Amino acid sequence: MSKQANEFKSRRTQFLKQLGKAVAVLPSARPVLRNHDVAFPERQDSSFYYLTGFTELNSYCLFAPSNKYPFQMFVEPKDATKELWEGYIHGPEQARTLFGADRAQASHPDTFFDEAFVEAMCEADALYYRVGQDSKMDERIFELLQRASKKLGRTGRPFWPIHDPLEILGEMRCIKSAAEVELMAEAAQISADAHKLAMKLTKPGTWEYEIEALLFKEFRGHGAQRVGYNSIVATGANACVLHYSSNNEQCQNGDLLLIDAGAEYEYYSADITRTFPVNGQFSKPQREVYEAVLDVQKKCVGAVKPGTTVHALQEMASELLLDHLLRLKVLKGTKKNLLQQNAQKKYYPHGIGHWLGMDVHDAGRYYVGKYDEYRPLKPGMVLTIEPGLYFTLGPARYKGIGVRIEDDVVVTAKGCKVLTSGVPKEVEEVEAACRLS
Ligand code: GLY
Ligand code: MN
Ligand code: MN
Repeated sequence: MSKQANEFKSRRTQFLKQLGKAVAVLPSARPVLRNHDVAFPERQDSSFYYLTGFTELNSYCLFAPSNKYPFQMFVEPKDATKELWEGYIHGPEQARTLFGADRAQASHPDTFFDEAFVEAMCEADALYYRVGQDSKMDERIFELLQRASKKLGRTGRPFWPIHDPLEILGEMRCIKSAAEVELMAEAAQISADAHKLAMKLTKPGTWEYEIEALLFKEFRGHGAQRVGYNSIVATGANACVLHYSSNNEQCQNGDLLLIDAGAEYEYYSADITRTFPVNGQFSKPQREVYEAVLDVQKKCVGAVKPGTTVHALQEMASELLLDHLLRLKVLKGTKKNLLQQNAQKKYYPHGIGHWLGMDVHDAGRYYVGKYDEYRPLKPGMVLTIEPGLYFTLGPARYKGIGVRIEDDVVVTAKGCKVLTSGVPKEVEEVEAACRLS
């Protein structure tokens, strides 16, 4: 068995163990039509891929620890015509031999799945299935549960409780294995190189979409399958739109360019933001804002270690940014009052970061138990650190300036390792990278 197949298998073993006497159903991602017979690009559901490595859609996994087939797959049957138009289909046999299913059958007609599911539920004490994503599948699952209940006869037992599989999988996905960190480091390296090239090639007159295309070419050219999220290439005041994505304006001499873009490599995403001057040199006000954000970003990265929380990092960023806003005379008053009013929020309206992994905003709880019990960081967690300042309001000298600096870090035994250090962020390094052309 290959190293990768082993990794998927050991995830399934862990998942099955945590299911206890419950059953889990994970549907694959569904094809989404754009129009007629033209589909939107396909991408497997992250948790489905995490457990199987299987990328074909229209499939289901059934996990039933008490069953004689604990891991069952229901996949597209071989179909010469479909394969002629859309490409290779592995089919049930290879789902067993290559993907490790204990039993694999065709996903349509539905009868195979339906029978296996009812049989598994008759032995189970709970169901793990994510309700609310696909109403047709929800209906089918509810109908099958009724069928299983009837089959059991008058047991007097209540209906099966239904849990979200992310209760288990979110926690597993939140702590990355060494193999996952390796893939994330590759996604980070590809993305960092693309950001560096964007710094080098941007000049007054460049269009945002030219940079978006350049990033995509670099990502794909280095083996990444797709972007982890829509690239944000935002010049001037566009940088103050947090999820700007139209990318259709021209970079002007004297403006900054904010790029928030990351490649997805083998189902793992990077998430990098850099902000740099279009003409290669920060103006004084731009530099003041940039250095404030940089200072906070570096201090927050320095504070990432086991035991701290994302909430503590956000508090730290908020307070430090507020100090800078006071120093730069953007805010006036006492620090205590301003902090109480959350005055920095006007210029720093988002969080310090998020889990990163197969999804850019990855799975895993930020809280333990109640929503005010913040979850301590542990080695193997990967998160972003991304403070920013955005001046849609405020003093005229800063108007239209938006700066965000974002790195991806993996928590280690004593601190963290920055995966995205390959792209400059110090003022002099950024200006030098912009001058290389
Ligand atoms: N790129 C989206 C984010 O930084 O959260
Ligand atoms: Mn992010
Ligand atoms: Mn980002």
